[in-house]
Amino acid sequence: MKSVLVSRFFILLPWILIVIIMLDVDTRRPAAPLTPRPYFSPYAVGRGGPRLPLRRGGPVRGAEKRNESRQQPQPQPQLPTIYAITPTYSRPVQKAELTRLANTFRQVAQLHWILVEDAAARSELVSRFLARAGLPSTHLHVPTPRRYKRPGLPRATEQRNAGLAWLRQRHQHQRAQPGVLFFADDDNTYSLELFQEMRTTRKVSVWPVGLVGGRRYERPLVENGKVVGWYTGWRADRPFAIDMAGFAVSLQVILSNPKAVFKRRGSQPGMQESDFLKQITTVEELEPKANNCTKVLVWHTRTEKVNLANEPKYHLDTVKIEV
Ligand SMILES: *[C@@H]1O[C@H](CO)[C@@H](O)[C@H](O)[C@H]1NC(C)=O
Ligand SMILES: *[C@@H]1O[C@H](CO)[C@@H](O)[C@H](O)[C@H]1NC(C)=O
Repeated sequence: MKSVLVSRFFILLPWILIVIIMLDVDTRRPAAPLTPRPYFSPYAVGRGGPRLPLRRGGPVRGAEKRNESRQQPQPQPQLPTIYAITPTYSRPVQKAELTRLANTFRQVAQLHWILVEDAAARSELVSRFLARAGLPSTHLHVPTPRRYKRPGLPRATEQRNAGLAWLRQRHQHQRAQPGVLFFADDDNTYSLELFQEMRTTRKVSVWPVGLVGGRRYERPLVENGKVVGWYTGWRADRPFAIDMAGFAVSLQVILSNPKAVFKRRGSQPGMQESDFLKQITTVEELEPKANNCTKVLVWHTRTEKVNLANEPKYHLDTVKIEV
């Protein structure tokens, strides 16, 4: 009996030592390595699976049910944080759209997802989804007042403003870390290249958007590196004839214009972007991205309305499944 215990001890001993050494190495890792390797975590290597581009915030583990599903990873001085504000609302395709978005965002270093539900309370579906998404995120909610839920009125105004308010509150006391904000609606498709482009935004940057405004694309017209007009199929007289997916704003600009919000009062349909940008910048100041606005890196994809004609009202399935 005793010899069995002793032999087990000697079998386990090397493994215990290895674990202790790994833990020790982990805690001694310098906060900011001199060699830039922000896109890949060394932990992703040798786990059997493909090399996952985990961010340096640490691997996903037991994300607790908190408002902030995970701690903000240590900001890297050389890499501004990208804040993506996504308004979302309950509908049959919601989880599918959010999954697509999360799969994109998970490949972007130093991104913080601000998901704002159009609801009186945080839904279980979105809470569970975010807890498992493996992304630094913040889960907010604000219901759209009933009087604004009419066709022809702009959508997601309250939700975008809630995201802006959160950003301003979070940074009100600390000196602002470099950051970039953009509005990532959950029905668009984003190229990873877009995030590289927007990360260098100094004030407000702009780029083309595909499949929008009844055209294959819309774009800012650029001459000598400056925006001089708009290629658009709809109301070219708008001060900023650009889609919500076509611009990013530096955190500094958001903080130094604390009153800039999306307006309900006096805002005409389709003027949300212009009304907002007018408060924080001028056309002359805009920074063209995506090769002087000649590359489409984001698309206004719209999911087809799902057909639920055969969804039963009675005799439902015996298990309740979240879709
Ligand atoms: C989330 O935030 C709200 C309001 O800020 C607070 O009342 C609530 O207790 C928080 N929930 C958790 C789980 O921290
Ligand atoms: C954009 O245009 C400006 C002026 O013509 C030029 O100097 C600059 O190199 C261009 N940028 C890119 C990325 O092509």
